Amino acid sequence: MTQAAGTAPVLAVADLDIALVQHGRRVSVVTAMSFIVEAGEAVALVGESGCGKSMTARAIAGVPPAGVAIAGSIRLAGQELTTLPPRERRRLCGRQIGFVFQEPMTSLHPTLTLGAQMVDGLRTHLGLSRRAARDRAADLLDRVGIPRGRNVLDAHVHELSGGMRQRVMIAMAISCGPRLLIADEPTTALDVTIQAQVLDLLAEMRRESQVAMLYITHDLEVVAQFCDRAIVMYAGEAVETGAATDCLAHPRHPYARGLLDAIPVLGRPDARLTPIQGQVPPLGQWPEGCRFAPRCARADAACARHPALHDGVRCWHPAGAASR
Ligand SMILES: Nc1ncnc2c1ncn2[C@@H]1O[C@H](COP(=O)(O)OP(=O)(O)OP(=O)(O)O)[C@@H](O)[C@H]1O
Ligand code: SF4
Ligand SMILES: [Mg+2]
Repeated sequence: MTQAAGTAPVLAVADLDIALVQHGRRVSVVTAMSFIVEAGEAVALVGESGCGKSMTARAIAGVPPAGVAIAGSIRLAGQELTTLPPRERRRLCGRQIGFVFQEPMTSLHPTLTLGAQMVDGLRTHLGLSRRAARDRAADLLDRVGIPRGRNVLDAHVHELSGGMRQRVMIAMAISCGPRLLIADEPTTALDVTIQAQVLDLLAEMRRESQVAMLYITHDLEVVAQFCDRAIVMYAGEAVETGAATDCLAHPRHPYARGLLDAIPVLGRPDARLTPIQGQVPPLGQWPEGCRFAPRCARADAACARHPALHDGVRCWHPAGAASR
């Protein structure tokens, strides 16, 4: 059933499972992800490399890699996306979901000028004239910190630096005024000044247009400054969710604690960093019980059973609580 758009969250993901299907064999990549993003809210997805952040983002945006099977529910303003015919979904998502890909090179067309790619999207989705679309594209490029944006419209992607490509991707993702912006490591390739400028622009979009944002980053400083809530992922599942300030100030899951202990703390350059021992288990080799158990100092016999997400934390012995 479709919920009224006025009352439904902008994004509601429920029981999202993503699997790679190769030679008839299914390997889980993401399991049981459930979360919402409200209008004007920014939710961070954090976790080590390979935890499934980009897979989650791409499944939501309707652009998963080939050979991937998706189950569960993804609703945009109450409308179920997973059952829409592909063409209808592309149309809806192009207009209402902006997506900043982690790898700009793979999503920008190599032989078309940037102007052609931006103007095309603006004309298709907003019905602008060619001239109005070009003006808007140039203005957006200025806003993401590309000086003389109009000149860049005639360039091809290979003529730009990594940071410029990233900014063009951001400009394209916001060009149609999306309701939901999914940004996968959007500022990683940018220097700090441009990063601050882009974050200011995104904050303005949240404030003025109530854009909902799913923000993937390794940078916990950015999470603290920019995001309302955080979802910490480990081996394909959420292990801690809550207000970003709580997850960062008082992490309850040993993995979330470990992530924080592994990064420098602003204002405490002498603090000792402790990397989390071991590696994220490869796909197909997740432990049956708690997936973090082989790396967890607190693991005991109870952890041989897979913990459910309970009160925002997936752990039998979360910090600050009696064992479950
Ligand atoms: N196209 C693909 N084909 C096969 N496996 C893939 C593909 N893309 C990702 N994977 C695998 O799926 C898992 C999750 O990958 P994903 O890209 O979502 O990780 P991530 O959390 O975004 O990591 P990072 O921080 O490095 O971007 C990884 O094991 C990865 O190797
Ligand atoms: S369930 Fe056990 S192994 Fe897993 S994070 Fe909690 S204490 Fe560690
Ligand atoms: Mg990724």
